[in-house]
Amino acid sequence: MNGHGKSPLVITGFMGSGKTSTGKAVARRLGCDFIDMDAAIEKAEGMSIPKIFEMHGEAYFRTLESELCSRLAARENLVISTGGGVFVNPTNREHFKAALVVCLDADSREIYKRLRDDRRRPLLTTDDPYQSIVELMDARHSAYSHVEWHLDTNGKTVDEVADEIVGRLKADAWPA
Ligand code: S3P
Repeated sequence: MNGHGKSPLVITGFMGSGKTSTGKAVARRLGCDFIDMDAAIEKAEGMSIPKIFEMHGEAYFRTLESELCSRLAARENLVISTGGGVFVNPTNREHFKAALVVCLDADSREIYKRLRDDRRRPLLTTDDPYQSIVELMDARHSAYSHVEWHLDTNGKTVDEVADEIVGRLKADAWPA
């Protein structure tokens, strides 16, 4: 790098893997800016994610996500938490090619435990949310496998996961 900074740290993974809370904790530890993609989209659209899905459909939301990826990819010294579907789209993966990406992993039972009472995920607002988690995880497995750095979050606190990430970043001298 040129010594003025590094392309973003991107935190991705399935819904409920802890991307937002971990991203905030990592950014705080590093003194970097933080952006949560879902929150940024909700703010720009002036409505919640479930409302965007309801009013405009999923395809519209995916377009907003891709546009945001392309805008954020060039930013330096920034921690980004993606929505769980961002890395499914090869174009988005391409946008973040120069970024340092970490994928947070958790098994389906742990995800279910974390999201059981959550009503903010339209893709899990189904008759059988556990089955939806299993199926969607299976469908996304190959997309997430494009990410080199995977971190197991099962049974770990946000602080433990953030410490692991920061430890690895320090070893990589991120940001410059
Ligand atoms: C989605 C995940 C959500 C949100 C939207 C779609 C997905 O974000 O972007 O509901 O496709 O996995 P979280 O992963 O933060 O829940």
